[in-house]
Amino acid sequence: MNPSATADPAELDISDLELWKEGPPHEVFRELRGQDLHFSALRDFPDETGFWSVVTYDDIARVGRDHKTFSSERSILVVDSLAREPGAPDPMDLGANMLICQDPPRHDRLKALVQRAFTPKTALDHTERMRQIINLVYDNALGKHPDGRLDLVRDVGVFVPSMVIGDMLGVPREDAEQLVSWTNRTSAFEDPRLVPDLDELWTAFGEFAPYVDGLIRAREANPTDDLTTKIIEAEVDGERLSHDEALMFFFVLMVAGNDSTRAVFTSGMKNLMDDPGQMELVRSGAVPLEQVVEEFVRFNPAFAYMRRTATCDVELSGAEIKAGDKLAMWYVSGNRDEKVFENPNRFDVRRDPNPHQGFGGGGRHFCLGAGLARLELKLWIEETLRRFDTIEPDGSPERLSSTFLNQWYSMPVHLA
Ligand code: HEM
Repeated sequence: MNPSATADPAELDISDLELWKEGPPHEVFRELRGQDLHFSALRDFPDETGFWSVVTYDDIARVGRDHKTFSSERSILVVDSLAREPGAPDPMDLGANMLICQDPPRHDRLKALVQRAFTPKTALDHTERMRQIINLVYDNALGKHPDGRLDLVRDVGVFVPSMVIGDMLGVPREDAEQLVSWTNRTSAFEDPRLVPDLDELWTAFGEFAPYVDGLIRAREANPTDDLTTKIIEAEVDGERLSHDEALMFFFVLMVAGNDSTRAVFTSGMKNLMDDPGQMELVRSGAVPLEQVVEEFVRFNPAFAYMRRTATCDVELSGAEIKAGDKLAMWYVSGNRDEKVFENPNRFDVRRDPNPHQGFGGGGRHFCLGAGLARLELKLWIEETLRRFDTIEPDGSPERLSSTFLNQWYSMPVHLA
């Protein structure tokens, strides 16, 4: 298939999973960047209204920074509801409690509760612990696969970030895999391998909630200095967080902290494996790892988009947006905007400056964990290259089926 935006823009539904089989449809986005704002029907969700695609770097920055006109309330996804049938309980109602689905001033107060735990300087305190975790995960993976033939996503990728953020939340490391399974089964709702039907979302939440409740009760009885204790002891406007708010605070940190970093690490490693010249630039130390990390995030932003909802009528790049309209800020497109990035489809770790939008286009919702993720990725690349002289593909990788999570489902590699 050779998808084209210009063949018939009215026919194009950018949320059609067919377009995403091989990854983000970059050619379609390139065409869309040259047109007025495009509106897609959400054909797979006939009860939902469609959405506008915000595709240029400047428009993403404008929408991301103007929270008064473009609200985060309700949802970060282009769907409003994931209920099985109209009137049935809806996971999106729970999701609306998340920090990422709130507007200022409440959003800012919630974020302030944990912001200090996530400054780039505080992230440095976790350096040795992160190195330890990375090595522990490789030891475990090689224990299971002594010949070094393993799956970089499923044997390595899922464990490192979940243990890093899990440690911060006070989760025992042996529970990390279980937490990843619960969070994947709620966030990867477009992939039938993980979420066969919408009931699965409730099954996963039904297991996740009592687990977190148990942790919360343990911290109420014996407070520690972990993030779970911070969340339950925190007050916003003189009140403790409600049960659902505390639960979803934990959830957003868990999902945002692990889906994202593993997606960027594994995708970036694939780019290095596919281009030995780039691998050599990194191995030889010719390019600082901090810079390599930025290109990893630009080329493969972990979240393809985040949604906003217009609070009033507004004009944007040729479109008359109405109050209540949905907009998707496509970071996968902004990061390849040829007006900002020279030769944007070229993966090049030498790119500098690299003002990508992989952590958001700026504004109040800019990624809370950017400092932590940058350091984690740097250490992960460093330890991987230190331990293995050879890192090669060992079979065909498979994409996760999603228009939101930009990641690989599995990636067979040979590490030696
Ligand atoms: C490479 C890894 C990561 C990427 C690419 C990434 C990307 C993003 C993006 C695009 C957003 C939304 C920005 C917006 O709407 O303007 C976001 C928000 C967020 N991220 Fe990350 N993220 C990463 C790692 C992390 C980590 C490790 C954490 C740790 C807890 C984290 C926690 C969050 C939270 C809590 C939010 C919501 C912030 C808010 O609503 O104010 N992220 N991230």
